[in-house]
Amino acid sequence: MSQIRAAITAVHGYLPDYKLTNQELETMVETNDEWITSRTGIKERRIIKEQGVGTSKIGVESVKGILEKSGTKPEEVDLIICATVTPDHVFPATANLIAKETGCVNAFGFDMSAACSGFIYGLTTGAMYIQSGNYKKVIVVGADKMSSIINYKDRATCIIFGDGGGAVMLEPSTEDVGVVDSIHKSDGNGVEYLWMKAGGSKFPATHESVDNDEHYVYQDGKTVFKFAVTNMADYAAKIMEKNNLTAEKVDWLVPHQANKRIVDATSNRMGIGEDKVMMNIERYGNTTAGTIPLLLWDYEKQLKKGDNLVLAAFGGGFTWGAIYLKWAYDSK
Ligand code: UT7
Repeated sequence: MSQIRAAITAVHGYLPDYKLTNQELETMVETNDEWITSRTGIKERRIIKEQGVGTSKIGVESVKGILEKSGTKPEEVDLIICATVTPDHVFPATANLIAKETGCVNAFGFDMSAACSGFIYGLTTGAMYIQSGNYKKVIVVGADKMSSIINYKDRATCIIFGDGGGAVMLEPSTEDVGVVDSIHKSDGNGVEYLWMKAGGSKFPATHESVDNDEHYVYQDGKTVFKFAVTNMADYAAKIMEKNNLTAEKVDWLVPHQANKRIVDATSNRMGIGEDKVMMNIERYGNTTAGTIPLLLWDYEKQLKKGDNLVLAAFGGGFTWGAIYLKWAYDSK
């Protein structure tokens, strides 16, 4: 019997309409377009402006899109995994809200917290359910409403993050396509370099925690940068070596969009040219778990069945890793 692999059979994304440009940020904090562009590659990001709209909206719209594209009835979906650090509520899981709103009444679901590596952790997890043979339709969502935890007075973080995300459908395939291999790592020594300190069980919300801005993202950018550059590049190279993938055989690098300089270091290490690197950071900024599905959505039309993709990410935790997958379909 041939091996079952989890193939991505549809992808869709969602972005709010509002564009927060570098020019508008110049009016909010002491910064400028030149600094932001040269240090990060970002020109604008999307922001959810409506009150009472959370991350689930991004997931719901993305899931509706993939159900329609793949001709799937909502009740056929077995599992929804939602990678996010900005769940609608501390509990229950945002995956449950997405299932309810999309009519996926037979699906079970859970959230995955791995910050910017959330989508690749979720993809590997979803692939395992498919490979078990017991689940036929698994949806992996990567979505974040980062504007809900960003301090728009802190120029070290507010210029980086945006709202958005996407989702993929995973289905079993016995063809030579789908998720081939993955390597993941985490290291809790990185916790305090990139985190939201309060609001969990250790430091529940108090007047003091709000006054001290502890419900916002804190990032020690320089330290995170150092670890991100090394680990994203190392793990992208590792997955290539492990699978005998030469630079010529890699069709696309799909890198988490944290900073163009980190992506350049990764593609240099892999020995691949810019023409094989998916990028959209200039338009959306860093959407945390949302960046990789948004890239797949943006580049879907350029992807061909059998293309070799290397996905790589690094994020808070620290968390990081890489996935090797073969694209499963030609775009119509
Ligand atoms: O996605 C999850 C993982 N996250 C990442 O991978 C992010 C990794 N880190 C980074 O991408 C970069 O560290 C940043 C883009 C966040 C910052 O770039 P940097 O080159 O590391 O800048 P820096 O923090 O060392 O700051 C350099 C200077 C400082 O001024 P002095 O001390 O040299 O006078 C900052 O105060 O730039 C200043 N600065 C700014 N200036 C204008 C910091 N933020 C800004 C700003 N506008 N927004």
